[in-house]
Amino acid sequence: MNVQGRHYRTIWVEGEGAQAVLRIIDQTVLPHEFRIIDLHSVAEVCRAIREMWVRGAGLIGATAAYGVWLAAREAEHLSAEEFRVRMAMSMEALRVTRPTASNLVWALKRQQSALEGLHGAAATAAAFAEAQTIADEDAEFCRRIGEHGKGIIEAIAAKKPGQPVNILTHCNAGWLAFVDHGSALSPIYAAFDAGIPVHVWVDETRPRNQGASLTAWELGQHGVPHSLIADNTGGHLMQHGMVDMVITGADRVTRCGDAANKIGTYLKALAAADNGVPFYIALPSSTFDFALRDGVREIPIEERSADEVRVMTGALQDEEGTTEQGATSAEAPRTASVLICPESTPARNWAFDVTPARLISGLITERGVCPASEEGVLGLYPEQK
Ligand code: MRU
Repeated sequence: MNVQGRHYRTIWVEGEGAQAVLRIIDQTVLPHEFRIIDLHSVAEVCRAIREMWVRGAGLIGATAAYGVWLAAREAEHLSAEEFRVRMAMSMEALRVTRPTASNLVWALKRQQSALEGLHGAAATAAAFAEAQTIADEDAEFCRRIGEHGKGIIEAIAAKKPGQPVNILTHCNAGWLAFVDHGSALSPIYAAFDAGIPVHVWVDETRPRNQGASLTAWELGQHGVPHSLIADNTGGHLMQHGMVDMVITGADRVTRCGDAANKIGTYLKALAAADNGVPFYIALPSSTFDFALRDGVREIPIEERSADEVRVMTGALQDEEGTTEQGATSAEAPRTASVLICPESTPARNWAFDVTPARLISGLITERGVCPASEEGVLGLYPEQK
């Protein structure tokens, strides 16, 4: 994807051998600053995932895969047995950074197989190659999701000539959440690039505001028409015929089609069902957890710090509503955090909820679109029967 005319992936490697560094875009400072961070060790990678410098199912998986490469490089000098023990510890440290997205464990399993029986420089080389393959696959699968989802948008556009297709999305499942293209936003980019008129309703997505700070930013970079709305607005828009479809991403989807996604997605799905608005989930196969059937009972839901609910961060504005710039024009705007409740108010912060398959019109995957049911999913992925 392009940022100010230059192509970026969300994660990449620069340099060679022992000097090579892993680069990421710090998503905690967007949209006010575009900052690139270098990661040198598996400990730094764990921190980047846990503290959400990187986030989104696909990107979490790719980052963990590169984390295994850095862990192997750090342990290159160890004997075969010491290497095996150290790598098991590093993989466990990566695994526990965030519990909900399937892609994390999926990427670690891929790396485990790639490293089977290896240690020393051969292991580092194998882990690097596998991380690159995982990143390339993620980008390519998201591109294909865009192609498959574009057909659905095109069909709606054909029924309302001359008017934009209004699509509601929740959280950020764009290129920032993957290595490139995104899942939920990929069909929107593909439709927009093909000249189909689209307009996106962007849920702000409390408490971390991924919609306001990330989705609005990346849609703006691509020139896609969009409007930011408060999280509770979607139902009202649907009642008034102002939403043609909903597309969200997912962090984990069971073999029966139940989908965990950012907290609040379930309420949008209920409103969509009540108003006859098609509700799609877009995901690459790395987000399926084929071992699970019942998402509400079985998908682990991350609970994060209460302060993410109690405190909000943003750019400072003066009394006229103008954003306060940094000391020089090249510097990012000044930001600040503010407490939005009484000092002593306790809060709870579940990061995800599960939308049952019965509320989902279809799953948009890299292999095509299928019904959200075991039959539908296994029709596309027969090897998982
Ligand atoms: O907590 P995050 O920001 O890592 O949340 C994950 C998400 O970005 C969303 O739930 C998204 O819709 C699915 S991940 C592509």
